[in-house]
Amino acid sequence: MTHEKAGFLEVRNVEALYGQAILAVHDVSLKVGEGNIVALLGANGAGKSTTLKAISNLLGPARGRVSKGDILWRDEQINDLSASKLVARGIVQVLEGRHVFQQLTVEENILSGAFVRKLSRNALRESLEQVYTWFPYLKQKRKIKAGLTSGGEQQMVAIGRALMTKPRLVLLDEPSMGLAPIVVQEIFEILRGLNRGSGVSFLLAEQNANLALKYADHGYILEMGRVALSGTAEELRARDDVHDFYLGGAKPSVPH
Ligand SMILES: Nc1ncnc2c1ncn2[C@@H]1O[C@H](COP(=O)(O)OP(=O)(O)O)[C@@H](O)[C@H]1O
Ligand SMILES: [Mg+2]
Repeated sequence: MTHEKAGFLEVRNVEALYGQAILAVHDVSLKVGEGNIVALLGANGAGKSTTLKAISNLLGPARGRVSKGDILWRDEQINDLSASKLVARGIVQVLEGRHVFQQLTVEENILSGAFVRKLSRNALRESLEQVYTWFPYLKQKRKIKAGLTSGGEQQMVAIGRALMTKPRLVLLDEPSMGLAPIVVQEIFEILRGLNRGSGVSFLLAEQNANLALKYADHGYILEMGRVALSGTAEELRARDDVHDFYLGGAKPSVPH
């Protein structure tokens, strides 16, 4: 007999507003299964960042809020839990645009991620070393001011800092933005390793659909604040219309 697995993350018919009336997300439903990498795709303005912030309860500073629908985490409604309570439960967001403290060193930036956990010195060290095993580059650069490192390194710092919270689900907003393809590839390989090695799940907002679908298990395509299409990454990769209509580009040609 098969049992329905307990829910992990489930977003049900969420609507989100900015101010009184700017409807940014009309109706989004999606699921992330435990251990999955799920891609949230769509053009600029489709509602990807708003959806991620609706989940992590980070809309407030932009005067945004979830106006309808439910966000469930392990079958419990979490719409009203603060971002820090969500972090304590294992959900952390890496914001779009690599927000690192420019004047702090790489290591200080990474350590700053742990402030929500009350850790002993040893536990802190251990978490830090763990981050360095995933991102060996960062260890080499640990004493350098983050503002002086490359864009790719800053993205790694932002991810490393989030990992200090020991998340089960990372909401990652456009990690590829502004980075060279080779660097992005490297970051995605690390994320895949983390996912396979530690079972960390990812909900990954990306405009770069070809790339995201290469690493994801499932994908959702947003269009004007609604889910226009969803499926396994394999299904979405195979559909020509996905590339033509939703993702603004041709399907990558098969090399020969
Ligand atoms: N702080 C904000 N105030 C008002 N409208 C916003 C704000 N942030 C985003 N929006 C609007 O919400 C819609 C969805 O934006 P966003 O979630 O940022 O899309 P994406 O991340 O897919 O590019 C867009 O129409 C955008 O203009
Ligand atoms: Mg965005």
